[in-house]
Amino acid sequence: MRSKHTITVNNYNTIAKWIHWLTALVFLGAYASVYYRHWFTVDDTPVNWTALQLHLSFGLTIGVLVILRTLWRMTHATPAPEPGTKLEHLAAHIGHFALYAILIIMPVTGYLGAKVDTEFFFLFDIPRFESTWFFQTVIYEGMGITYEEFEAPLDFVHKQIFGKWLAWILVVGHISAALYHHYIKKDRTLIKMTTGK
Ligand code: HEM
Ligand code: HEM
Repeated sequence: MRSKHTITVNNYNTIAKWIHWLTALVFLGAYASVYYRHWFTVDDTPVNWTALQLHLSFGLTIGVLVILRTLWRMTHATPAPEPGTKLEHLAAHIGHFALYAILIIMPVTGYLGAKVDTEFFFLFDIPRFESTWFFQTVIYEGMGITYEEFEAPLDFVHKQIFGKWLAWILVVGHISAALYHHYIKKDRTLIKMTTGK
């Protein structure tokens, strides 16, 4: 295993770039599909169902990508930050930490709170949490918690707190920071995640 303390690198490597940009695209897909469903489809129509299933599929893909990304992060050096004030570095750390948190919390709350199975990009089915042995035996029979009680707080976090507000604020802040580095500070921050030149 390579240690991030002994190796310095100038750019994110190809795998890290792929995971980052795929995440950005799939994240956009998760939003586009769920709001397409809300704004442009009527309940109980095939297209309404397709949009929901795409949302679930994009969302679970983010869950897989964030696992890969965390494994990458634990085993590889990340490029040193560009010069900046202590406050700027602290803001970057908090911002990146919060983005990771979103990338984990959204798929987890989404999956645990979804009332339908996921037809993963219409290729194969992933059973909903309610129908798993773990929920039925441990949570329902063991703790006496019904699915309605279990999913209400998760739904609230997924749809109201993160889905509607926090995720957007963080992502817009993140993109603004990247553009600020590139066009105003004119440093290598965005280059490290793109061409590397
Ligand atoms: C990073 C991943 C995800 C993001 C950013 C995300 C975001 C959102 C947003 C913005 C909404 C609509 C909130 C509103 O009512 O205004 C939503 C609803 C929903 N999400 Fe997710 N989600 C993600 C992952 C998942 C996953 C993995 C599942 C389940 C497997 C899921 C299941 C649902 C369900 C069932 C709804 C309600 C459907 C609807 O309102 O039409 N989500 N999500
Ligand atoms: C146009 C869209 C985007 C741009 C221009 C962008 C740009 C960047 C850049 C330049 C970095 C490197 C920052 C540094 O080394 O200090 C970075 C890192 C990161 N980005 Fe993005 N990004 C975008 C979208 C997203 C989205 C949608 C997400 C997730 C929701 C995301 C999550 C992250 C995370 C978690 C890191 C930290 C990587 C690490 O060091 O482990 N990005 N991004």
